[in-house]
Amino acid sequence: MGVHASGHIDEFVHREGKTLMKLGVVPNKDSVGPAIKNDSFVFYNPAMSRSRTRSVLLMQYAIENNLLGNGVIYAVDGLSASGLRARRWLNELPSESAKRIRATMIDMDPVALEWALKNHEEYPPNHNQGELRAVNGDLRSAILSQGWHWVDIDPYGSPVPFIDTAIQSIARKGILEVSATDTAALTGSSKNALLRRYGARVRNDGLAHDSALRVLLATVGRSAARHERSIEPLMSVWDSHHLRVSVRVIRSIENANKIEEQIGWRINSPTLEEVRESIDYGLQPETSLEILPMDCFLPLSYSLKRDDKRISGPLWIGNMGKKEVLAFMTEDRAATLCAPNPDEIDQLGWSEKEFEYERRRILKSVKNISDEANGIETSHHILVDQLSSWLEIGSPPSPKKLVEVLRQTGHQASLANYGKKPSIRTDAPWDVIVKLSLEIHPPI
Ligand SMILES: C[S@@+](CC[C@H](N)C(=O)[O-])C[C@H]1O[C@@H](n2cnc3c(N)ncnc32)[C@H](O)[C@@H]1O
Repeated sequence: MGVHASGHIDEFVHREGKTLMKLGVVPNKDSVGPAIKNDSFVFYNPAMSRSRTRSVLLMQYAIENNLLGNGVIYAVDGLSASGLRARRWLNELPSESAKRIRATMIDMDPVALEWALKNHEEYPPNHNQGELRAVNGDLRSAILSQGWHWVDIDPYGSPVPFIDTAIQSIARKGILEVSATDTAALTGSSKNALLRRYGARVRNDGLAHDSALRVLLATVGRSAARHERSIEPLMSVWDSHHLRVSVRVIRSIENANKIEEQIGWRINSPTLEEVRESIDYGLQPETSLEILPMDCFLPLSYSLKRDDKRISGPLWIGNMGKKEVLAFMTEDRAATLCAPNPDEIDQLGWSEKEFEYERRRILKSVKNISDEANGIETSHHILVDQLSSWLEIGSPPSPKKLVEVLRQTGHQASLANYGKKPSIRTDAPWDVIVKLSLEIHPPI
């Protein structure tokens, strides 16, 4: 524990990426779950370090691709706690990008903000560019004080209480990143919480985390539409205990009116008629229907029984990410932007091994993401273990091999970045997927 009864604080200097911060406790860098506030007097969760690294990369992508205009970028680290996310934007983005950023941390906890500002003063960016300020208050009102180009929401549990005001606070065009740690609700384990918070049902099967991300996207998309905006998903990630969606928000009544085109249902073990409807609606490519797919999307307008156990939704049936964004998330870029440089003077006196360990943690943040670029804008997400039982072919086809043969036949395909479950994404028609899988592993 960092705070003694006398009020004395044991301080520990910690490095995440290229950024230094004083903490009141030695963090467990290998932690994968939620942190508890009592671990330290300021909330810091090392398990979210990968999410913060991706946030730095996404911001650089957005700047390089002119998604945030040409002038000053007003960015808010809402629910900032230690403020490490905002500090990492400023510290780790190249000088040319960082100099445009006016970052604001908002948190109800004044001690956390004071601590964050002190850390920034003590360990400022090498290039000394950009600005950091702090606002103490309730995010739901504080965020409405101005328009923002970038809004980050990283709450304890569900982001639902913050989404509407976050959307309203975004300038004409901007980016919203939303984390959720209420995964039990979003994946359908806690059905009542899911229905209450997100108005959805999710079948708690192998694709539950994919459905969960889509329910979150649908929630953000609907909120955007209510405020005359539309969203374009840039990246959706399931990473250990949390889910996170990053979307572009654009003010447009015309596109907001089309929100229902992007929302619908996922049906497990669909009937012939349901698969036909899915094809007719353009939710998967034309295919022969001798062997039906394991699941399919249907439009919101399709008439279903709400107590049908095969159904998940309403959820986002459009793309969950953008090809170019995922292609940007390479290990090289992550290392260049975020890995600490052992050749610079090091205040922590780290050994070569410690630098290498942190570099590897940074690379892990983007593992497999750029490879998924080729498959992210496609309709099928297939768990290979399920596919082998569906086709009764003993052992599952190697996902790598399946991707390879799908690409050789001219289709988009990639391994999916989906927890520890081996899966692929592809735009190939279902009958092609079946044929190639059976060629790799004939039925026993
Ligand atoms: C999960 S932590 C944020 C972690 C942080 N984003 C990071 O990357 O380390 C949630 C934070 O939200 C703050 N908080 C909770 N409700 C709030 C509200 N309504 N307005 C502002 N801050 C709030 C808490 O004080 C806490 O610091």
